Amino acid sequence: MTEIANKTAFVTGAASGIGLALTKALLARGAKVMMADMNAEGLKAAQASLDRPDDTAIIVCDVADATSVQGAAKATIDRFGKAHLVFNNAGVSLAGLPGKFNLEDWRWIVDINIMGIVYGCETFIPLIASHGEGGHIINTASMAGHVTNPGMGPYFATKFAVVGYSEALRMELKNIGIGVSCLCPTWIKSNIHNTSDKSPGAVNSREEFKSSKAYQTVKSLIENGMSPDIYAELCMKGIGANRMHIFNDPETRQAMLDRHTSTMADYDACLTDLGIA
Ligand SMILES: NC(=O)c1ccc[n+]([C@@H]2O[C@H](COP(=O)([O-])OP(=O)(O)OC[C@H]3O[C@@H](n4cnc5c(N)ncnc54)[C@H](O)[C@@H]3O)[C@@H](O)[C@H]2O)c1
Repeated sequence: MTEIANKTAFVTGAASGIGLALTKALLARGAKVMMADMNAEGLKAAQASLDRPDDTAIIVCDVADATSVQGAAKATIDRFGKAHLVFNNAGVSLAGLPGKFNLEDWRWIVDINIMGIVYGCETFIPLIASHGEGGHIINTASMAGHVTNPGMGPYFATKFAVVGYSEALRMELKNIGIGVSCLCPTWIKSNIHNTSDKSPGAVNSREEFKSSKAYQTVKSLIENGMSPDIYAELCMKGIGANRMHIFNDPETRQAMLDRHTSTMADYDACLTDLGIA
């Protein structure tokens, strides 16, 4: 589905950052948008900041709660009649080292970053299929779904899961007229570096962490990152072209190639070990 005008979009994480920028880009193309977020005050402020707030509605929704996502979907249909584009975008980050994580924090990020996307897909796929006008599901992963670095294992794990899930969905939904894309951004100006303040263990909100070099580096990269509005425009182009992955970072190209080369070296070595290379 390449046409966005007069379609209805559902966007999670719409109160801030990439979700708010996607909302603006969709409105500029004539879509109606249901903005969903767990931050009620942030949602109201975000909606008030828009040029065409009347073409939007807001719904407080916790993507980690399937019932909450189902309620938000119902509100979308009640208000706009149909849903065509679903942006499963809400996500959180979590830094730390293995052996030192609070396991509740691990479950927290899995529930939001993976299950939040699963609930969005499982809820909206039948709704899109039922109207027969086609649609597009856009899951926000990250460049962290393709290459890794030390210090954020749970985040990488969840984002790799989103990439794999989205690639499978794309094959599965092709025949019923639903496209699938996966957003794989790096360093976009947003509040993502502060989201883990809200994890159950709140380890990342401690002064010790906030003053660490690792946190200060990520904070600086996010604060000086690409404008979310520029990235959202790129996403609109990518959806129009039915692209699988939507990247924005020229500096990660070599790391992606290196990962592929090293994976293939293991693959070939294993086949040699088996004597079938
Ligand atoms: N900013 C970047 O550089 C970057 C890079 C790669 C991927 N991402 C991904 O982009 C997505 C959007 O993040 P962002 O950078 O705009 O950050 P952000 O923190 O500015 O926005 C995230 C929004 O999600 C909402 N949210 C968090 N948990 C939620 C929940 N359980 N239910 C509903 N809403 C919830 C927050 O209230 C917030 O409004 C995330 O999935 C993030 O992992 C961001």
